[in-house]
Amino acid sequence: MASILVYLSAAVLFAQSTVAFNCSRKPIYVDIHKRAVHDSPVFQYGSFIGLGTPAQNQSLWPSLAQNHTSFASHSYCSDNTTLKDCDRSTGGFFSHEASTSFVMQPNFQTQDRASNGSFSGFFGQESVRLYTHYFETEGASQTLLENSTVEVVTKGSIIPSRVGMGSSSTVLRDLAARDMIAGKTYSLYIGQGFDRAGGAVNGSNVFGGYDSGRFVGTPHMFPMKVANTNSMSVRIKDIIITDTNDRSNVSLFDNKAFTDMQAPAVSFEAQITTEQFPLSLPYQITKNFIARLQAEKDNSWGDNSLKLKNDFNGTLSIVLEDGFTVTFPPEVLMNASRITPIQDRAEDDKQPFLLGSAFLGQVYLMADYETNNFFLAEAVQKNNMVMPVSFCPKTIPVAYQRPDQSEWQRQGLIGAVIGGVIGGIGMLAALYCLWVVVMRKKDQRRLQRDLQKNQKTKMEQFDVEDAPSFDPPPSQTSKAFFWKKI
Ligand SMILES: *[C@@H]1O[C@H](CO)[C@@H](O)[C@H](O)[C@H]1NC(C)=O
Ligand SMILES: *[C@@H]1O[C@H](CO)[C@@H](O)[C@H](O)[C@H]1NC(C)=O
Ligand SMILES: *[C@@H]1O[C@H](CO)[C@@H](O)[C@H](O)[C@H]1NC(C)=O
Ligand SMILES: *[C@@H]1O[C@H](CO)[C@@H](O)[C@H](O)[C@H]1NC(C)=O
Ligand SMILES: *[C@@H]1O[C@H](CO)[C@@H](O)[C@H](O)[C@H]1NC(C)=O
Ligand SMILES: *[C@@H]1O[C@H](CO)[C@@H](O)[C@H](O)[C@H]1NC(C)=O
Ligand SMILES: *[C@@H]1O[C@H](CO)[C@@H](O)[C@H](O)[C@H]1NC(C)=O
Ligand SMILES: *[C@@H]1O[C@H](CO)[C@@H](O)[C@H](O)[C@H]1NC(C)=O
Ligand SMILES: *[C@@H]1O[C@H](CO)[C@@H](O)[C@H](O)[C@H]1NC(C)=O
Ligand SMILES: *[C@@H]1O[C@H](CO)[C@@H](O)[C@H](O)[C@H]1NC(C)=O
Repeated sequence: MASILVYLSAAVLFAQSTVAFNCSRKPIYVDIHKRAVHDSPVFQYGSFIGLGTPAQNQSLWPSLAQNHTSFASHSYCSDNTTLKDCDRSTGGFFSHEASTSFVMQPNFQTQDRASNGSFSGFFGQESVRLYTHYFETEGASQTLLENSTVEVVTKGSIIPSRVGMGSSSTVLRDLAARDMIAGKTYSLYIGQGFDRAGGAVNGSNVFGGYDSGRFVGTPHMFPMKVANTNSMSVRIKDIIITDTNDRSNVSLFDNKAFTDMQAPAVSFEAQITTEQFPLSLPYQITKNFIARLQAEKDNSWGDNSLKLKNDFNGTLSIVLEDGFTVTFPPEVLMNASRITPIQDRAEDDKQPFLLGSAFLGQVYLMADYETNNFFLAEAVQKNNMVMPVSFCPKTIPVAYQRPDQSEWQRQGLIGAVIGGVIGGIGMLAALYCLWVVVMRKKDQRRLQRDLQKNQKTKMEQFDVEDAPSFDPPPSQTSKAFFWKKI
């Protein structure tokens, strides 16, 4: 089996490697949100990364396929591009002439051979500036990655400014080779703060680490398929639509519910990608979705996402082979314009099935490129506490344990009921109150301790290099906290 081969080759590589991982290295946290970018009139959503000397700040879209980190040249928009609203959609512009640190690499051989010709440019070594920006009211701190090879894109039809996180990622390789992070590990929450997702939640990249406050539960592990350009894929064994009003469930795999099917649908493999927003599912499953929710073709966003005829208040749950279930809430399954994150699919379409950024808006992705495994866990979307920790290769990420008061109360009550025979009702109530008070205090102290530790970790990261005093991103009047009370 392919997956066993992947494991085996990883194990062999490991046996030969003498690299010792320094898992005390702090991770590099780079947030994803909307901000001003170089030479563009509007705020753009992406990873806060600057390039060159002096810095030209950009918003880079994370790509799990592309290996090189890329930036748009000014000629990108004048060169007959089909990118809509090009001057405000590239993620910023980079002018290599204006940088004193750019060194052209005319003979560089690209690692991105599979990028289907829709994208071309030239390569050079340049100073990549990874910004960590926790406090909206304060400046960002910078991790400087000097002489890293980047692509300056001159021609193309897609958003050109990208963090290349494919399986041969240049940035990740350089950071690890220079011992700036624990190893080739990386985590992504893409967020929902971009126009297509229509939400407010911001995302983050963590190089050499993960944000333990961003997910809950035990992460589920999957092997990468490094031969694929989208190396991360999962098998889907069921997709269920639940109507919120009557709690009824319908499986899109069920041939009793969809009588044009001879037999129940079989599980299928889908690749995780950030190259598109919607999901592209097998033809029959898409057909069942259309039938069940009276969806119709639409192309408001140029991505053929289906649109519903009538309002539907319900969820869509994607069940992976190992049982991990990702549920799209009602406002994601259908937005106020009734547009869904499911793409239309032609019967004869031979392209791989895809889980686009709509899927990544619901999960936290953690990738270990040293062992070629990745992890998925349920993302905490709102009120998360930013808790970046080192992601040691070969280990399983662990979620931050939130002190949960209702849990304490429930346990406390059960404890009191079990012991309650002695005391009668009054005694029971008193014990219960005492228990709750003690536990609350303990929670608060623990929370305080964790937060102090958290803050200290971040402050330590600020020492990577003296941050140049630069303008914070165009800040709203609202005061944002880097953590929010749960
Ligand atoms: C490992 O990383 C820590 C933290 O950055 C550093 O203090 C220590 O010197 C490193 N150890 C080695 C062996 O490089
Ligand atoms: C843009 O396309 C037109 C028509 O295809 C062509 O004549 C022109 O040279 C192109 N411009 C550039 C800058 O490539
Ligand atoms: C990135 O590199 C990997 C393996 O080295 C390759 O499979 C993949 O196709 C490359 N990505 C692109 C866009 O070419
Ligand atoms: C080329 O890549 C772009 C962006 O990833 C995608 O939209 C397009 O469909 C691809 N074209 C082909 C022929 O694969
Ligand atoms: C980057 O390149 C410049 C010029 O080639 C050199 O002076 C500098 O030491 C290099 N820095 C690193 C970290 O390799
Ligand atoms: C619904 O989503 C579409 C496409 O993402 C967007 O154009 C539209 O503004 C959204 N509608 C509302 C009311 O949010
Ligand atoms: C997302 O980032 C933007 C820009 O910094 C900020 O204004 C906004 O409050 C953030 N949203 C959330 C939900 O934190
Ligand atoms: C959807 O159903 C839930 C539960 O019945 C209800 O709380 C919610 O307001 C409904 N949403 C809409 C948009 O009707
Ligand atoms: C539908 O599935 C949900 C979640 O598994 C379950 O809670 C609910 O009871 C089911 N509804 C029916 C009618 O079986
Ligand atoms: C980007 O950062 C540089 C310094 O690092 C600063 O001078 C500049 O104002 C910033 N640009 C924007 C658009 O925030």
